[in-house]
Amino acid sequence: MNRLREQLGSPRLFIKRDDCTGLASGGSKTRKLEFLVGDALNQGADTLLTHGAVQSNHVRQTAAAAAFSGLACQAILEARVQSAPAEYAESGNVFLDTLLGAQLHHVDSGTNMDAALETLAAELQSAGRKPYIIPGGGSNALGSLGYVECLRELRDQCIAQGLKRPHIVHATGSAGTQAGLVAGAHALGLKWPITGIGVRAPQQVQEARVFSLAQRVLGLIGHGVALPRDAVVVDDRFIGEGYGIPTDGMREAVRMMASLEGILIDPVYTGKGLAGMIALLRDKKFEPDEDIVFVHTGGSAALFSYRWAF
Ligand SMILES: Cc1ncc(COP(=O)(O)O)c(C=O)c1O
Repeated sequence: MNRLREQLGSPRLFIKRDDCTGLASGGSKTRKLEFLVGDALNQGADTLLTHGAVQSNHVRQTAAAAAFSGLACQAILEARVQSAPAEYAESGNVFLDTLLGAQLHHVDSGTNMDAALETLAAELQSAGRKPYIIPGGGSNALGSLGYVECLRELRDQCIAQGLKRPHIVHATGSAGTQAGLVAGAHALGLKWPITGIGVRAPQQVQEARVFSLAQRVLGLIGHGVALPRDAVVVDDRFIGEGYGIPTDGMREAVRMMASLEGILIDPVYTGKGLAGMIALLRDKKFEPDEDIVFVHTGGSAALFSYRWAF
């Protein structure tokens, strides 16, 4: 990303285009769903069940994966962002969810989403259906395997493009992306720094969640060497007032990326993730010989529901 680099006077900047993974405008969930939908099909499921915030990219991609695989999809949407205009509830990912054929259930903020999903699964089972539960964000050990694969792909691409000291930066929410990347780097013996920019939980909570999930991922792939705790780094300073609530840094990052690189990022995840990366660059927090690799985890479909924020 040479124009962004010139603007910031930074080390070399690269982008991993995981927004180009396919499934109804792409994003990180495609990699997780590859494993989760495979498991659902192996188990003979006929319906994918999941949950997320109203503008969940994960729900939109799960709905697309279900359509693609000939499965039904039901999703529970939590009204996590308060006092947003009507377009937030109707446009962007919500509009796409319905186009993709998902059946949506709306619940209040603070609902126990996992319990709600279990209840819905029990109802469907008693009606003779075979539901398969996908956790929020697709972030269990199986789904996170998608980001072990991503790390392996990145390793090959970084070697091919001559990156000597890659430093990966990305947005972290339900933790599966970072857990997979960290587990993948550890399993491959790479000491690459991976910085997760938090979008919801405080640093300690998020680091503990990522660390625990990364350990389960390593267990799943049969890697016995203990993961050092300091392999997990989360910076929570760019969340602002809360999940999905716009910040000035996010607005600047979305505008810079669009106008300098012609790339759309999103207001909830990658916008705050890139805002974090820009702030770290301005504060000279990276070594001058590091190559910064931003993982674009998708989400631009949500932009249309956030026009008011710009
Ligand atoms: C666009 C986008 N980026 C990043 C994330 C965060 O990834 P994870 O939930 O694996 O931490 C999400 C998750 O929903 C997302 O939709």
